[in-house]
Amino acid sequence: MEIVLSGIRPTGNLHLGNYFGAIKNFVKMQEENQCFFFIADYHSLTTHPKPGDLHGNVKQVLAEYLATGLDPEKATLYVQSDLPEIAELYLILNMNAYMGELERVTTFKEKARKQPENVNAGLLTYPSLMAADILIHKAHKVPVGKDQEQHLEMTRTFARRFNRMYQEDFFPIPQAYNFGADLVKVPGLDGSGKMGKSEGEGNAIFLVDDPSVIRKKVMRAVSDAGPSEPNQQKPEPIENLFSLLKIVSAPEVVGFFDQQYNQCAIRYGDLKKQLAEDVIAFTDPIRKRILEIAADEAYISKVARLGAEKARESAAKTVKEVREIIGFRPF
Ligand code: TYM
Repeated sequence: MEIVLSGIRPTGNLHLGNYFGAIKNFVKMQEENQCFFFIADYHSLTTHPKPGDLHGNVKQVLAEYLATGLDPEKATLYVQSDLPEIAELYLILNMNAYMGELERVTTFKEKARKQPENVNAGLLTYPSLMAADILIHKAHKVPVGKDQEQHLEMTRTFARRFNRMYQEDFFPIPQAYNFGADLVKVPGLDGSGKMGKSEGEGNAIFLVDDPSVIRKKVMRAVSDAGPSEPNQQKPEPIENLFSLLKIVSAPEVVGFFDQQYNQCAIRYGDLKKQLAEDVIAFTDPIRKRILEIAADEAYISKVARLGAEKARESAAKTVKEVREIIGFRPF
């Protein structure tokens, strides 16, 4: 049985990008594999959240994970900071992670540019922590969106380096879950780039968004004046709207608007109305489950405690073996 591991930072509600990039196949995955799903709260410290907010966000993401169909009896759902073993493996991996390679990571360079006042060591060593997350359970597969591709590549580098250094075939070399197929990048509504919680107001559609909010966001999505000649290539904002439509709507619907576009007869208002309704048809059952589960604090606590216990067992075993391999031997 293969080991699958997936993580999400608790920096806000889950959006369509998270869902279609990393969560979509959970229900099937948990039937066929040993799954570990966790909330990356150590990672979120790079942005210095307020303690009260952090705990609330972790609880919310736990509820949202569960609402997407994750079954805590079948999969192990836990909070990263409940496993101090991860911090130990992170420290060990950092000893063989080099400044040069860490500084070249695109997300680090982007963050350093966007927040020059807070270029902390946690940001630089983010790939080592992510590698520790994955290697702590010796995971084979990692469901991630396109934006995490480079981090996963770093994990492979660290795993190979460790195996080579100690001449042990210890860590499996993890692959993206949809190995072979392209990783997904769900675009945002602002006309450029990916959907993300930190990309600005109105760019992301959250699973918990009310239908009226979704309608408003989608109607405000960036478009343009329309094509001026038949079969014209779509500029990025329009391509993005079509990408979203492809994700939530039936192929006939996409085909219809595509044809309208190619004939210069497209009405973006109609496309957006359809897109909003199809998004709502998808998110609304999940939204209702999120609200139900989020209200049941006792259930969420129970899931987190049970998950921590199961995950810790696996993490402690790996760390014990790593300690032995690197020469930390008991007296
Ligand atoms: P995070 O919290 O930014 O996002 C969680 C997951 O959602 C995917 N995702 C997207 N996929 C497609 N299109 C989008 N617009 C989009 N936005 C987000 C991300 O690729 C990710 O899979 N570093 C990770 C969290 C993490 C992790 C791990 C993941 C920490 N340790 C170990 C996997 C394994 C992150 O910041 O994801």
